[in-house]
Amino acid sequence: MKIFLDTANLKQIKEAVSWGIVDGVTTNPTLCSREEESFEDLIKEICRIVSGPISVECVSSRADEIIKEARSLAKLADNVVVKIPIGIEGLKAIKALAQEGIKANTTLVFSPMQALLAAKAGARYVSPFVGRLDDVSHDGMDLVDQIVTIFNNYGFDTEVIVASIRHPLHIVETALIGADIATLPFAALEKMVKHPLTDIGIERFLKDWEKVKVK
Ligand code: E4P
Repeated sequence: MKIFLDTANLKQIKEAVSWGIVDGVTTNPTLCSREEESFEDLIKEICRIVSGPISVECVSSRADEIIKEARSLAKLADNVVVKIPIGIEGLKAIKALAQEGIKANTTLVFSPMQALLAAKAGARYVSPFVGRLDDVSHDGMDLVDQIVTIFNNYGFDTEVIVASIRHPLHIVETALIGADIATLPFAALEKMVKHPLTDIGIERFLKDWEKVKVK
């Protein structure tokens, strides 16, 4: 399972990269709005720090505008993936961009049908938002399961990015289902490492080592 970071914060990205487990980054307008750097400088710097795919969101509405915006975002760095919300205009743009070799991550996916259409249009990635579904009493991980089954049934090579992850159980379920990628807020990544029994175990070993040293 690939791990993407769901943040535009350079400090968090640099820290996670130093752990050696970051395969890519996803950003969105909300995440970018929290940072001080200008948008283009921020994206270029993220693309420099992480060599894997960096999702950057288009905010235009009409297909022709989305295509224009996507082309200009794709020029920022070789590893930019344009993020396009699912919709009719989005599908038209994804299709046209795929023919030009520009990779798209279809975002704000909340149903298996949306994911199927995105894959048919040629999206490189689809992003089901599990946490936001859980928030409205729908099981977000059920959606991921359905999308992975559908893509396997028909041999789509579109990768599934499990997005809007809220807690470690989402990550475990992502891996058990076999989705390609989990995109994680930094806090969720930190929680993956920790276990109280590990801390207790280290403390006990260090204490006992003191006894070994004096022999
Ligand atoms: C994914 O690409 C999105 O940036 C993100 O996962 C949305 O998460 P949220 O629902 O916590 O805003």
